[in-house]
Amino acid sequence: AYVINEPCLGVKDTSCVEVCPVDCIHPTPDEPDFDQHDQLYIDPEECIDCDACVEACPVDAITPEDQVPEEWQRFVEINAAYYRRG
Ligand code: SF4
Ligand code: F3S
Repeated sequence: AYVINEPCLGVKDTSCVEVCPVDCIHPTPDEPDFDQHDQLYIDPEECIDCDACVEACPVDAITPEDQVPEEWQRFVEINAAYYRRG
């Protein structure tokens, strides 16, 4: 799966949402909790590793899970945790 890392914080460009073929990036701007989050998250169970979101992100926030830099390792869990709510 791919992971959205720290550069997304406060940016939330959402270009990644538009290019993802399986709609596994949330919350999208039309979802009610969009404003409550500082970043977006990739669903590790749904991501098909297509790589489309990497080039789409203007701040290079997205990496494959096995290429998340050491200082951003916590974002692996941060992305997964969003999809375990409720
Ligand atoms: Fe979506 Fe592809 Fe990015 Fe996974 S790698 S989040 S499937 S655009
Ligand atoms: Fe964030 Fe980049 Fe997507 S800033 S919302 S990961 S396009």
